[in-house]
Amino acid sequence: MSPQTPRWVQRVVPEHVLSIPPYVPGKPRAELEREFGIIDSVKMASNENPLGPSPRAVEAIGRYVRGLHVYPESSAPALRTALARRLGVSEQAVILGNGSDEIMLLAAHVFVRPGDEAVIGEHTFSMYRIVVEAFGGLVKSVPFKNHRFDVEALAAAVTPRTRLLFIANPNNPTGTVVSREEFEFLLESLPREGIVVVMDEAYGEYVRDGDVPRALNYVRAGVPLIVLRTFSKIYGLAGLRVGYGVSEPWLIELLNRVRPPFNVNSMAQIAAVAALEDEDHVRLSRLTNEAGMQYLEAELKRLGLEVIPSQANFITFCLERNAKPVYEALLRKGVIVRHLASFGMERYIRVTVGREAENRRFIGALEQIL
Ligand SMILES: Cc1ncc(COP(=O)(O)O)c(C=O)c1O
Repeated sequence: MSPQTPRWVQRVVPEHVLSIPPYVPGKPRAELEREFGIIDSVKMASNENPLGPSPRAVEAIGRYVRGLHVYPESSAPALRTALARRLGVSEQAVILGNGSDEIMLLAAHVFVRPGDEAVIGEHTFSMYRIVVEAFGGLVKSVPFKNHRFDVEALAAAVTPRTRLLFIANPNNPTGTVVSREEFEFLLESLPREGIVVVMDEAYGEYVRDGDVPRALNYVRAGVPLIVLRTFSKIYGLAGLRVGYGVSEPWLIELLNRVRPPFNVNSMAQIAAVAALEDEDHVRLSRLTNEAGMQYLEAELKRLGLEVIPSQANFITFCLERNAKPVYEALLRKGVIVRHLASFGMERYIRVTVGREAENRRFIGALEQIL
């Protein structure tokens, strides 16, 4: 709590809210530049698209700005229709969020009551814990096996009080994936009632491994499932905040009950439709990522570092000791990466795949430091 927080707060705010660990974001470039007097920093810390937004999205926003005095359409019909068509589902199966983060919050709002449980992985995206604890839920954090979700252990952690089970596929921050066989095993192992699986595919568009399940194909398979995707990563619209969830219509209807009516702003809606149609930008983003990933993986290995093979747009590597000094030395050289202490991985650093020049600068800086 902040030193300015008045004492009465402790009496009236629930303990489960006061104990939520704060979300730790990547350091913004402007902050680093102010602190160190640097002018040409690079940010490879938040898994953003290094190519920027789709040019078609930028153009669409430019055409729209004169309409900013009007409220957005609450149900985002154009974007929901475009997504439904693209994914081959009904419009009633799609919900939009202010980032996919918000849909996690909606799911916890609907399904988690104080004392209910949620199962997550030990080293995974921190919002899962935050949204569950916000509603008084108890998080069961399941150890990883060789940097991967252990589906048998996840299934074993489920009890009659488990309401949500979160998987990120690929996982942040390890970049590892759950295979089709593992996912099917998990779905078959879960109770048919009382639990909802949240399958977060924020990085799904980057996956190269053909053995990775597309969770959309399992939405009607028995266990209720919410698939999350986002426009923040390959579509390059992180600043606009727009993500979506796909599930069965009855479940989407429940989530809509607690969704703020204008949660996705007009520009985000318009830009997302344009970005979805901009297949050239998506293709170029994927190719840039693949080339950068190959380079980074090879160079990190050349430097003698253990890397975790990644299917996403970032790669995580181990320093055999607390990685904080290396993270800080990189900052002083104007390169922002993520030290994974807040993910429970003190010896690891995660770097987002950048453009060629950024990747070279990062490797050059790291080599000097090591
Ligand atoms: C696994 C995962 N899910 C979701 C998100 C957040 O996505 P959004 O920007 O759509 O809220 C992130 C962002 O880093 C992420 O790593």
